[in-house]
Amino acid sequence: MDKPVLDHIGIAVTSLAEVTPFYEALGLTVTGTDEVPEQGVKVAFLPVGDGQLELLEPTGPDSPIAKHIERRGPGLHHICLRVDDIEAAMADLKAKGFRLLSEEPQSGAHGCRICFVHPKSSGGVLLELSER
Ligand code: CO
Repeated sequence: MDKPVLDHIGIAVTSLAEVTPFYEALGLTVTGTDEVPEQGVKVAFLPVGDGQLELLEPTGPDSPIAKHIERRGPGLHHICLRVDDIEAAMADLKAKGFRLLSEEPQSGAHGCRICFVHPKSSGGVLLELSER
């Protein structure tokens, strides 16, 4: 297995339309948007160097992002590391006693396969693993 690389940083927003002008003012560009019904979000990606910012807007009140915004307000939501084999990465973490938020990989934006690690296992950060 190769070492993971930083894929993106997820930021919870109440409205993509309200927040993207700020990042565009910094010179960044939205290169893709996607809707992920399984996660209840609309996402916009803005590349920064080798990584990306992922702005997440909830699509309904039951969305995990809507709940996050309700509890903590908008802002930093998760960090995503890209791995080359998500099943292997998940099995390896589980074998080492770390906690994952799902037993199987889930569908992420742009057809990625993703999994979240429990913040208790990752130093208080919601950490997403993603395989492209
Ligand atoms: Co993400």
